[in-house]
Amino acid sequence: MRYVEAKGAKIPAIGLGTWELRGRTCARLVEQALKLGYRHIDTAQVYENEREVGEGLRASGVRRDDVFVTTKVWTTHFAPNDLERSTKESLAKLRLSEIDLLLLHWPNPQVPLSETLGALARVRGLGMARHIGVSNFTVALIEEAVAACPAPLACDQVEYHPYLDQTKVREACARHGMGLVAYSPVAKGRIKDDATLTRIGRTHGKTAAQVCLRWLVQQNVSAIPRTSRLERLSENIDIFDFALSDEEMARIFEMGGTKGRLTDYGFAPKWD
Ligand SMILES: NC(=O)c1ccc[n+]([C@@H]2O[C@H](COP(=O)([O-])OP(=O)(O)OC[C@H]3O[C@@H](n4cnc5c(N)ncnc54)[C@H](OP(=O)(O)O)[C@@H]3O)[C@@H](O)[C@H]2O)c1
Repeated sequence: MRYVEAKGAKIPAIGLGTWELRGRTCARLVEQALKLGYRHIDTAQVYENEREVGEGLRASGVRRDDVFVTTKVWTTHFAPNDLERSTKESLAKLRLSEIDLLLLHWPNPQVPLSETLGALARVRGLGMARHIGVSNFTVALIEEAVAACPAPLACDQVEYHPYLDQTKVREACARHGMGLVAYSPVAKGRIKDDATLTRIGRTHGKTAAQVCLRWLVQQNVSAIPRTSRLERLSENIDIFDFALSDEEMARIFEMGGTKGRLTDYGFAPKWD
């Protein structure tokens, strides 16, 4: 396993995304993933599966300290008291005493960012979260957050895959010593039959998805692919025994554009 190190956080380069995984399926996949060597699980209050993530974690037998658990505060809980209360609820559902990385899930212009960041830093200070960060923050919002936050922000979690150029966000994170965590890293499965990735994969004996994930981790990015299939759990973590050449990396970078964004949430910020 490789790690993305930022502001004292050591984020495993591959994690399991759990959006839309529910109930027994979620608990079982988390358990299996940890047994296969995953050490990073990504959940969120709004996914309504924190309880099952905690169950999977305990069922795996992997030591708590060896697993990096991220959860995210939903935007309706950004007023300072709500943020603290909802973090306590997350801890109770996960049955953990501390979250490894607590993120603001999306920007919420209805609540002053400095107040929300103050509350986020306070829950960290109270020992509820080891590290804090943001998600879906544009370059402008990263700048605003870094200036306003009384504690270090470890990362920005954003959509990132070969079809979406994230150079500007990547550079902003690097400038501030923040890590970048890529969500929808296999473009929601769309990369599976991609001709360029498949061709590159053939020379390494790897699938298009493995080439895609390798391309991300080779940029010092952490990726959190989600799958509901056991065989793909293994596939998505089996990327540490090969390397892409500079030329292969460049060919994949060429696939990216600004129109490759797959998610168009009504409340999304205006991306640059
Ligand atoms: N911060 C945010 O706002 C935000 C937003 C979106 C997502 N996320 C996080 O990021 C995680 C991942 O993003 P995502 O779920 O949107 O998309 P993703 O991981 O890019 O794609 C998931 C889809 O790809 C398929 N897939 C997974 N591995 C594959 C492989 N090796 N080959 C072919 N297909 C594969 C899965 O199908 P099968 O189940 O059939 O394998 C699933 O339909 C989420 O689960 C969540 O934890 C965060």
